[in-house]
Amino acid sequence: MRDTSKVAAVAGASGSVGSAISRGLLEHGWRVALLYRRDHHKADLQERFAAYGDRALWVQVDASRSDRVYQAIETIRSHWDGLHLLVNAIGGWIGGKRLHEHAPEDLDAMLNMDLRPAFHLMQAVIPVMLHQRSGKIIHFASLAPLHDGAMSAVYAASKAGVIAMTRAAAKEYRRDGIQVYAFAPGIIDTEKNRQSMPDEDRSHWVPVQELVETVLFLAEGGDALSGTVFEFRGRE
Ligand SMILES: NC(=O)c1ccc[n+]([C@@H]2O[C@H](COP(=O)([O-])OP(=O)(O)OC[C@H]3O[C@@H](n4cnc5c(N)ncnc54)[C@H](OP(=O)(O)O)[C@@H]3O)[C@@H](O)[C@H]2O)c1
Repeated sequence: MRDTSKVAAVAGASGSVGSAISRGLLEHGWRVALLYRRDHHKADLQERFAAYGDRALWVQVDASRSDRVYQAIETIRSHWDGLHLLVNAIGGWIGGKRLHEHAPEDLDAMLNMDLRPAFHLMQAVIPVMLHQRSGKIIHFASLAPLHDGAMSAVYAASKAGVIAMTRAAAKEYRRDGIQVYAFAPGIIDTEKNRQSMPDEDRSHWVPVQELVETVLFLAEGGDALSGTVFEFRGRE
């Protein structure tokens, strides 16, 4: 029998948050295209998500490249009908230094990890969603640009761009059945953060499960919340 379950694309699926969101959606019956960048993630993802059989699809993409993103979305479309949800959990951080201490290359690195993927992914999926007259997009930004972003100026600027594009797109496509949201978390309680900050007090960190549950809620509802930047402050 033909599988008619909804289709999601999770970008940054090899990351701490992207992999948890992928699993959450698969557990709730979605078909999920897991978008990963570096070669070595494929075998790991295939092993971790093997239990979901044909409902999981692996697609490699460097999302800083427009042509690659279009190709990846086309691969998903040729495999399954429709694309109902895009979760963009791509990101990276260069910081811990004052603005004048940044290398000029840091700007490109942050744009390639934090801003360009959001732009290219939206450019590729919105035409599909316009055709369907429905679709949801969730981007991961950060609390940094909503605070002062000190010691993270380049990262905060890049994530601020994600928030700006989220708000603009939510308004531009509000009559087309497309909703766009941004998540702005503080420090997330991931294994990577536990290892890199072993002595930090984790009581105010954001549990990954709360992010997953909010994605699951928005995946099925919350249309009137389009344009919202969800601040996950933890228990600060
Ligand atoms: N962790 C936190 O405390 C925190 C706090 C605030 C906001 N956020 C944001 O939340 C999101 C998820 O964070 P996380 O902790 O799950 O990060 P993570 O574990 O470092 O994962 C980031 C993912 O992004 C992928 N990626 C980076 N640049 C890419 C590109 N150009 N094209 C395709 N994939 C690319 C990485 O792939 P590769 O491994 O192949 O490079 C990796 O899978 C990110 O947007 C992050 O900025 C995180």
